[in-house]
Amino acid sequence: MAQMISTMPMLDAAPAAASTIMPRLQAAAAAAACLDAPPSGIAVVSRQHVRPDAASAPAVGDLALSVSDLPMLSCHYIQKGLFFPAPDLPMPSLVLLLRSSLSRALAAVPPLAGRLVTLPDDDGRVVVRCNDGAGVDFLHAVAPGLSLDDFLVPGADVPTKLTKDLFPMDMDRTVSYEGHRRPLASFQVTVLGDGAVFIGIVANHAVVDGTSFWHFFNTWAAICRGDSPTRLPDFSRNFFGESTAVLRFPGGVGPSVTFDVDAPLRERVFRFSADAVRQLKAVANRRPSRGQDAEVYGKMAQDPKNDPLVRGRGGEEISSFQSLCAQIWLAVTRARKRLDPDATTTFRMAVNCRHRLRPAVSPAYFGNAIQSAVTTATVTELLACSDLRWAAGKLNASLAAYGDGAIRRAAAAWQAAPRCFPLGNPDGAVITMGSSNRFPMYEGNDFGWGRPLAVRSGRANKFDGKMSAFPGRAGDGSVDIEVCLTPDTMAALLRDTEFMQFVSGPSHLL
Ligand SMILES: *[C@@H]1O[C@H](CO)[C@@H](O)[C@H](O)[C@H]1NC(C)=O
Repeated sequence: MAQMISTMPMLDAAPAAASTIMPRLQAAAAAAACLDAPPSGIAVVSRQHVRPDAASAPAVGDLALSVSDLPMLSCHYIQKGLFFPAPDLPMPSLVLLLRSSLSRALAAVPPLAGRLVTLPDDDGRVVVRCNDGAGVDFLHAVAPGLSLDDFLVPGADVPTKLTKDLFPMDMDRTVSYEGHRRPLASFQVTVLGDGAVFIGIVANHAVVDGTSFWHFFNTWAAICRGDSPTRLPDFSRNFFGESTAVLRFPGGVGPSVTFDVDAPLRERVFRFSADAVRQLKAVANRRPSRGQDAEVYGKMAQDPKNDPLVRGRGGEEISSFQSLCAQIWLAVTRARKRLDPDATTTFRMAVNCRHRLRPAVSPAYFGNAIQSAVTTATVTELLACSDLRWAAGKLNASLAAYGDGAIRRAAAAWQAAPRCFPLGNPDGAVITMGSSNRFPMYEGNDFGWGRPLAVRSGRANKFDGKMSAFPGRAGDGSVDIEVCLTPDTMAALLRDTEFMQFVSGPSHLL
């Protein structure tokens, strides 16, 4: 009501009899809806400022951005969120509950409620100022004309014109450097016409990586459903010890993203069942032999005596995820029909450094502890024999080599020449695999009325060849890959039967 009434003065310009007040109120509401609602039909009905619950907030001072945080200043804020079934409590109570639990979750993770500050007297060092009371925004939105089926359409592209509005619009595609003047996180709960709910989080990528992002999601969910969070974040800055390297932005003018945000893109979520992933792994680990058609792939994996065979080779085997990535690398390269046979293709995979460093960094380490492992091959090398094993072997080799030494060398190289993270696909031959099928997106994210139904992302950090791995909802080893490609490449990929035979059909949607 408060909002409707606030629109009245404008409409009051024309005199009206008291008896017409009700129709006029409705007209005002309709006019407001038309003015505020974007074409998606997702309209924000309230916006609240939320601060960490003072009673439980620990004092966390300034957190210096590390050599892994600073390069992310040129990346968009992360936008990821979850669909949930219809809650069994009335909407106003739900919104209140989410807001109060958010305040307590922020108390456990104060940096997300802080701001970025470039220290004036300290050679341009950037810190997260945790306790400046800045806080975050919490938006309640409604989409009475939309239901889950509009978002999760079997066998179709992701309706990005709709999904983008599931995240706070004023933070859409915000560059992380903006955290100097914008909140470091923003939250939106959207209630659909069928009662289903989407909880979307936008979080500064110089402050969190995927591991920390989902850790926070889990923390909020645990507090909301009345559990205590299992593990609190670790705010020590021990990632590479003390580094004095800085990225300078003269005059406080922040960077732009390193790719064209307006290039046309299609986006799909491909679902790979546990069976399909097992088949690919069996092929990737098969000893040299001839037949490589699908029939053989299928029979190999289903034949029980092949499993012990693969496992019998012990720690040397190529992982399921690397096998799946190899399949994607081959298929996308086939689909990029304009590439020269001599062109070098690049598969960049985000790697979590926490467990790879020696000594290992805590899994609860808060911040970025990621680098990018690069594997290259020419189009001809990849496609000449279309051999999954060769591509999988290449990926296995670069990932296996990405240990403590490689991480420290990459960090030292960055400190010698600090730069923004070069996200993008300048030569049209790059695949960038982000996120992880191991992140706890379904696991640990029950807010109290049921497990999440699906994960979706916003428009952040998307370009031709950008992919994100999500665990399958069943938790059985199935994997969902969100794939962004140029319209031509996506069309060719969808026609590629060798690839599509491993993708689950529409009936496997949920
Ligand atoms: C995977 O890489 C490791 C480390 O280089 C190696 O020992 C192993 O043999 C590789 N496995 C396969 C199947 O290529």
